[in-house]
Amino acid sequence: MCGIVGYVGDQQAAPVLLDGLARLEYRGYDSAGVAVFGDQGLEVAKAKGRLQVLSDLIDGGRAIHGNVGIGHTRWATHGAPSDVNSHPHMSRSGRIAVVHNGIIENYAELKAFLMGEGVEFASETDTEVVAHLIEYFYKKDNGDLLSAVNRVLHRLEGAYALGILSADDPDQLIAVRKDSPLILGVGQGENFLASDVTAILRYTREVIYLEDGEMALLTPQGVRCFDHLMRPIEKALCHVDWEIDAAEKGGYEHFMFKEIMEQPDAIRRTVSPRIKDGRVHFEDFGLSDQDIREMSRMYIVACGSSYHVGMVGKYNLERMLRRPVEVSLASEFRYMDPIVDEKTLVVVISQSGETLDTMAALREAKRLGAKVLSIVNVMGSSIARESDVVLYTWAGPEISVATTKAYSTQLAVLDLLGLYFAQRLGTLPEEEYQAILDSLLHLPEQIEQVLEQREQIQYLASQFFNHSSVFFIGRNCDYALGLEGSLKLKEISYIHSEAYASGELKHGTISLIEEGTLVIALATYAKLFDKAVSNVVEVRTRGAEVLALTTEDHRADMEGIGAAGVVTVPHSHPVVLPSLGVVPLQLFAYYVALMRGCDIDKPRNLAKSVTVE
Ligand code: F6R
Repeated sequence: MCGIVGYVGDQQAAPVLLDGLARLEYRGYDSAGVAVFGDQGLEVAKAKGRLQVLSDLIDGGRAIHGNVGIGHTRWATHGAPSDVNSHPHMSRSGRIAVVHNGIIENYAELKAFLMGEGVEFASETDTEVVAHLIEYFYKKDNGDLLSAVNRVLHRLEGAYALGILSADDPDQLIAVRKDSPLILGVGQGENFLASDVTAILRYTREVIYLEDGEMALLTPQGVRCFDHLMRPIEKALCHVDWEIDAAEKGGYEHFMFKEIMEQPDAIRRTVSPRIKDGRVHFEDFGLSDQDIREMSRMYIVACGSSYHVGMVGKYNLERMLRRPVEVSLASEFRYMDPIVDEKTLVVVISQSGETLDTMAALREAKRLGAKVLSIVNVMGSSIARESDVVLYTWAGPEISVATTKAYSTQLAVLDLLGLYFAQRLGTLPEEEYQAILDSLLHLPEQIEQVLEQREQIQYLASQFFNHSSVFFIGRNCDYALGLEGSLKLKEISYIHSEAYASGELKHGTISLIEEGTLVIALATYAKLFDKAVSNVVEVRTRGAEVLALTTEDHRADMEGIGAAGVVTVPHSHPVVLPSLGVVPLQLFAYYVALMRGCDIDKPRNLAKSVTVE
């Protein structure tokens, strides 16, 4: 979704802004713009399309001079992608510039008020009201920008992160946030604001996380923060230890491929430090053994791929804990009147930690009295900060819109959580506990083995990349895995694909199977392998071409029933098998998209972090 960068210091602002925006490109956008104050006053450049169009327009930033500025990549919500709807938006006098992430829900009402005051609007956006409204109060407040911004905030409904620059106070930037991420980067004689830490990592690793309703005033000399009543507040400075090159392609053609290949290391980083003396150990875990024993119900709540992790988690946790686990889409959770009380544990999963629906579900769960444990990748993100307990996935920055290493590390953390709870509940025999733990410890090297098959997977992709419709089928965890395989394929290759629990085929969907339909049969779960064979035979009889994913010991069986291609994963504990099975599915989706010439890291219409409902 939209990205924000702001700079105030002694460097030329425009190149810094363009550089920061380039690092936010992965979030998805359709236009970009910058506003810089310099000897020519407040200059604004905006362009629909790729950031390169904007960069060419201002000669890589060299055409605009000045040491303070704000930049934005826009993902259209109110008003189509166009030069004029791009941010920054200007006040009527052209002296105040605003960039905004989020949605101003009461913008129509505010717009009507401003039009009544004679203000003319240039764009169709909700953001423009903010620029005009700040100017309106700025005049009333006799030129006190901070207080004008504060008065505006009390009138805005919705979600927003704002960066504000005024030609009348040109040595400062103002930052504010509510329900939309915004961080401040603290440097030496220069300071930054950004919607995402990757935008400023090249310049500083010291950041301040703004909380909802807080404001900040940035000058080259420092950063001052205020609460919603404009009382000064002290904020902690946090150090970000992500490597800069973790957010670079490092010789790979696409971030997605790089991130697929990084999975063994990401899982090692996530799992190993949490195993001590043959037991799962979580540092500063905020749930007591009594809390765990008293837990009567557990929900897993997430969106998209993170939800698919929850689907696998349901099978795995119920198996380990013998307790009911419900999985809910975050976008449904808060509207479904969930049965939640103080003995309920809600596990929230989110790579970004900023997904708006997931955040709203978290707040609803807390409102109803539940304890919230989150599995999050981005340190200091909103979801992490509002949870009772946070387990970080130490996957490093994930840039590709289609998640891969975040999915894998989330799954590994959920398995660790299952083991941790099982030990306290006494629900797993010791042998089984050790077998799962052992499989988790061997997972990185087994994923390396799966990655070695990438040429075969590439070959299979070359045989099937022009299919227009694909079905993934499987049972139990293989069904949950199919959901992720199908999402991966459709989101980056634009091929229509669906995942079905194999047993459901006969209840309707099998009528879609005809000569040449591609069916990807997932059959890694040994206990249900015979059932998987029957389903493959069923669809083969109706003319489907089948690609099968199974364990090495079942390769011959699958070939024997006419699978056009068989990919295998090494033997592992059934709880851990989905963590292996997902890798060939990611690779298959990647190669298919590559052969179809798709924009793999930035699929159309998608955004990395979905911060609107
Ligand atoms: C798909 C994908 C999305 C995300 C979803 C949730 O590849 O990445 O489906 O999983 O938008 O995002 P987070 O995990 O950041 O809450």
